Amino acid sequence: MPSAKQRVLVVSNRLPMNIRYGNEGPELTPSSGGLVTGLSSLQGEYDMAWIGWPGPVAKQDRSRIERTLTEEHRFYPVFLPEQLSERYYEGFSNRAIWPIFHSMPMYAKFSLVEWDAYKKANALFAQRVVSVYRPGDVLWVHDYHLLLLSRLLRQQLPAATIGFFLHIPFPHYDIFRLMPQHRELLESMLDLDLIGFHTHDYAQAFLGCVRRILGFENTLGQMFINNRIAQVDVFPMGIDFKKYSTAAKEEILQPEIEKIYRRMKPRKAVFKVSRLDYTKGIPQSLRAIRLFFRRYPQWHEKVSFVLVVVPSRERVDRYAALKREIDELVGNINSEFGTLEWTPIRYIYRSLSFGELIGLYHAADVALVTPLRDGMNLIAKEYLAVKNDGTGVLILSEMAGAAKELLEALHVNPNSEEEMCEALYVALSMPVEEQQRRNNLMRQRLETHDIHQWTKRFFTRLRDVKETTERLAIRQLDPATRAEMITACAQAPDRAFILDYDGTLVPFAAEPHLARPDTELLTTLRRLASLPNTTVVILSGRDKESLDIWLAGTGVVLVAEHGGWVKRTSVEAWEPTIAEADDTWKREIRPLLELYVDRIPESFIEEKTFSLAWHYRKAESESATYAARELLDTLSNLTTNLDIHVLPGNKTVEVRTIGISKGAFFRRFFATSNPSFLFAAGDDWTDEDLFAVLPSTAYSVKVGLYMSKARANVASYADIRQLLNDFVGGIDAHHR
Ligand code: UDP
Ligand code: G6P
Repeated sequence: MPSAKQRVLVVSNRLPMNIRYGNEGPELTPSSGGLVTGLSSLQGEYDMAWIGWPGPVAKQDRSRIERTLTEEHRFYPVFLPEQLSERYYEGFSNRAIWPIFHSMPMYAKFSLVEWDAYKKANALFAQRVVSVYRPGDVLWVHDYHLLLLSRLLRQQLPAATIGFFLHIPFPHYDIFRLMPQHRELLESMLDLDLIGFHTHDYAQAFLGCVRRILGFENTLGQMFINNRIAQVDVFPMGIDFKKYSTAAKEEILQPEIEKIYRRMKPRKAVFKVSRLDYTKGIPQSLRAIRLFFRRYPQWHEKVSFVLVVVPSRERVDRYAALKREIDELVGNINSEFGTLEWTPIRYIYRSLSFGELIGLYHAADVALVTPLRDGMNLIAKEYLAVKNDGTGVLILSEMAGAAKELLEALHVNPNSEEEMCEALYVALSMPVEEQQRRNNLMRQRLETHDIHQWTKRFFTRLRDVKETTERLAIRQLDPATRAEMITACAQAPDRAFILDYDGTLVPFAAEPHLARPDTELLTTLRRLASLPNTTVVILSGRDKESLDIWLAGTGVVLVAEHGGWVKRTSVEAWEPTIAEADDTWKREIRPLLELYVDRIPESFIEEKTFSLAWHYRKAESESATYAARELLDTLSNLTTNLDIHVLPGNKTVEVRTIGISKGAFFRRFFATSNPSFLFAAGDDWTDEDLFAVLPSTAYSVKVGLYMSKARANVASYADIRQLLNDFVGGIDAHHR
């Protein structure tokens, strides 16, 4: 959570207020859409300033409007030249990103000029943010208009805390990559500290794209990117439950509420409210209503539909065409079924005031919320919150993010006129007790998971991510700690060294078998292992045979296959560390890896007792990297039900039996002994498993300047060798 002194800078395309030019000149009007309604509830709760575009504003009005917005509301406007805003907002944001992210590529148009404008507009937003930013501020960027902002901000404010929330869906890889600029958007997003989505499906789709396109793996949504952490998480957006559940009783709203009630009440009322948008399924629901009236004439004159379409993006061709289609359908339905006393569909094309909206929710018997695809959909939640007596029926598209939480609603496929028509029939005939049973369950959930809890969860997560980033930051081994380690080692009554091999004691070789130890290393290891009360463990991912050939006779404990096999100095034979594991999975996975061997020349499969690995170090790099990402993605999806891990390595993709890791080995091997001095060194992610389980008194060193759970970093294997020699020297000196 931001502390009392911390300011939150919200950055979104829209400010809560929009400038409209009426007869009297520029006027401030409320902006529409779920983002603004949701976040506006937070003003007052946090020390919050908002940066956004106020809509087109004539040059001569800008300084006056800026003064009003900043002084009265703490809104910092980003003014965009008319042509730029057209190409950035109507253009790239709403003609390219919006349809692609809603998985409707048939409506997408890609234009380089519009992409260029998108970049320029994001740069103007960045400029504004940087000018308002004070160290310590928390930046919270919103939605698809500003996907390049993170990269620009990270360049200019490298230490800033930047959270991001996407209010719309995220598409699957196959659709996302249709957009020519997908890679740049994705790369920019990885500069964020926290990336929030409404549902697990969107988060998984995003992580899938990152894996396939950029090759980064994640652990529970956490990715290490250029020595930072980018965390993905799910935060289904809530509403201001209290505000909506008490609204129908608000004195000031009564005249509007009563007026609407009187107009609607003699009949049953069904409503649909949405912005003009092809994602909202308006024509589809109108056709379902037509079917309903054809199929159930007994409902003629007994029910009215209220259709409120809020104007939006009318300058985008698809939206204008949609408006014509809706007008025509409403006209047809009303002329087919209407009578002098009854208009089947009351159609309003404007936004409603808050009081009118509450009145409509309050009076309606049924809400028809049937988007073809929708990030969340707040209308559904607001309707339930307003209906305090628990009555009312929500017909909800299974394609809305809200469907994941509102399980007791009548779910429909929004492409099926048939399903929507039948749901209308069921809804209009549903007994009150049944309505209340369903709604009370959903209302309880909405009350607990409201907008305040949503924000709190987001900020808490953001703070955790920042803390983890600081904890894992690179800390070069400084001379004082180095000296302290050498002294501690010399004075300790007993000691243990746990050393990774490749990259830690020897450099990486072009071919695995060339990484044999040189005489200098063998001498160091022998000297170290021969010291009294000293255990040296080489803990490697390699197979038993290589370790045997290279290191036998040095007096060190050998551990192969990331902890799968151990050869103690006392036993002189290899022992498995876990009971022989079931490896029938290899029969399933091997054919898949073989496909990749066929496709990528010079790549090969290595089989070990507990794992199968596909190596591509010598293969042509670009196509091999691409294939590795694809393989990783396929394996991750295939293996969820098997007892195996998929591990991306250094030019390898490895599949390994669960229960084997360097950390698990440490726990078993040192279960009964607790050496007074413990030193561990490693260079890659498999060593992180070990660092994670070491006692806090242990000294751990990461080879390479990357984030790590180790206590310190050194640049190369040569530093580790030097350090080992100095340990030996220190002990010798101590005992002399
Ligand atoms: N809304 C409004 N006035 C209207 C109609 C709708 O303020 O006339 C608000 C409504 O209260 C809701 C938001 O607009 O909070 C619509 O959000 P939703 O998530 O349903 O859809 P979006 O428009 O964001 O796609
Ligand atoms: C959706 C988007 C918001 C946007 C809103 C209204 O909810 O996620 O970012 O503000 O629609 O759209 P508009 O284009 O009118 O700002």
